[in-house]
Amino acid sequence: SWTTGNVIEEQVTAIREQVGDKRAICGLSGGVDSAVAAALVARAIGDQLTCVYVDHGLMRKGETEQVEKDFVAATGVKLVVVDAEERFLTALKGVSDPEEKRKIIGREFIRVFEQAQAEIIADEGPAVEFLVQGTLYPDVVESGGGTGTANIKSHHNVGGLPEDLEFQLIEPLRKLFKDEVRMVGQELGLPEEIVQRQPFPGPGLGIRIVGEVTKERLDLLRDADAIAREELTAAGLDRDIWQCPVVLLADVRSVGVQGDGRTYGHPIVLRPVSSEDAMTADWSRLPYEVLAKISTRITNEVADVNRVVLDVTSKPPGTIEWE
Ligand code: XMP
Repeated sequence: SWTTGNVIEEQVTAIREQVGDKRAICGLSGGVDSAVAAALVARAIGDQLTCVYVDHGLMRKGETEQVEKDFVAATGVKLVVVDAEERFLTALKGVSDPEEKRKIIGREFIRVFEQAQAEIIADEGPAVEFLVQGTLYPDVVESGGGTGTANIKSHHNVGGLPEDLEFQLIEPLRKLFKDEVRMVGQELGLPEEIVQRQPFPGPGLGIRIVGEVTKERLDLLRDADAIAREELTAAGLDRDIWQCPVVLLADVRSVGVQGDGRTYGHPIVLRPVSSEDAMTADWSRLPYEVLAKISTRITNEVADVNRVVLDVTSKPPGTIEWE
C-alpha cells in the first residue's frame, strides 16, 4: 500500500545502491521539490551528498535563513551557500525589460552553480558522479508528452540546470504528485514553512519589480511582501490561494499623504490568485477586512509605498506574474 514510509524506504534503498561510495550534489532553490529530494537523498547517503544554495539576493524575507538554518537543522545535510547578491545586482543594473532580466538571472545562476560545483568536485573525496533533481511526475509527463506549449516566458528554476553529461541523475520524486511530495517532506521532518510553501518563481523578486532591480527596491518589496504573507497566514488563507505575488511598480509614482506630509511614492500590487495547475488562474476573492489590514500595514510600515492596489485580472488574459 502507498505510505510515505514505504516511499521513503524504497527510495533510500535504491539511492544507496545507485550511489555506492561515490558522491552526489544537489541545488537547493528554497522550494518544496528540491528540498524534499535533497532530504530524501541525505537520508540515504548522509554526507556523501553536498547541497548548493545560490543566494541571488532576490529571495523573500527570511527564506534564505530558512534554508541555511532550518533545513540544515532538520536534515543534517552538508550545505554550501554561495552569497552572490552583488554579482546578480551588478548583472541586473540598468535592466528593466522582463525577458532580459529573466535571461540574466538564469545565466548568472548557472554560472554561479557551476563554479560551486567545480569546487566541490575538486575537493578531496570520492568522485562526484550524481546530480539530484526534484523532478515530479507531472514534469515527467509534460516533457515526455512533446505537445510543445507556447513559450510565453523564459522560465528558470533549479530543475532546469543543464544536466552535465558527466552526471547521472537521481530523481527520487519522479513518481510523485505535489501533495505526495509535501507528505514525504513532512515525514522526513522538514519545517512546515518549506513543505507547505506556495509556488515562487526561480527569478524571485527580480521579476516582481516593474522597472530596474536595485537593493533598495528589493528591501522595500521584501517588507511589503512579508506583511502580505503574514496577514494572509494570520487569516488562515494560505490553503485557499495558490499564491499571492506582491509587485512593486518602481517606475510609477503617485501622490499621497503619510504622517503629516505629502508623499510621492510607489504603488504595491497585490495579486492573490486561485489555481489548480497555474495554466489558468482566477483572482482570489479575499475578504475586504484582510485586504484593508494589508493595505493599512504596508502604507504605515513601508516607507515610500503610499498606495496598495488589487489586481483582479484572470489568467488569461493576464499571467500570474507581472513579468
Ligand atoms: P505565469 O506568470 O506564467 O506563472 O502565469 C505561472 C506559474 O509559474 C511561476 N513562475 C515561475 N516558476 N521559474 C519558476 O520556477 C520561473 O521562471 C517562473 N516564472 C513564473 C509563477 O509564480 C506561477 O506560479
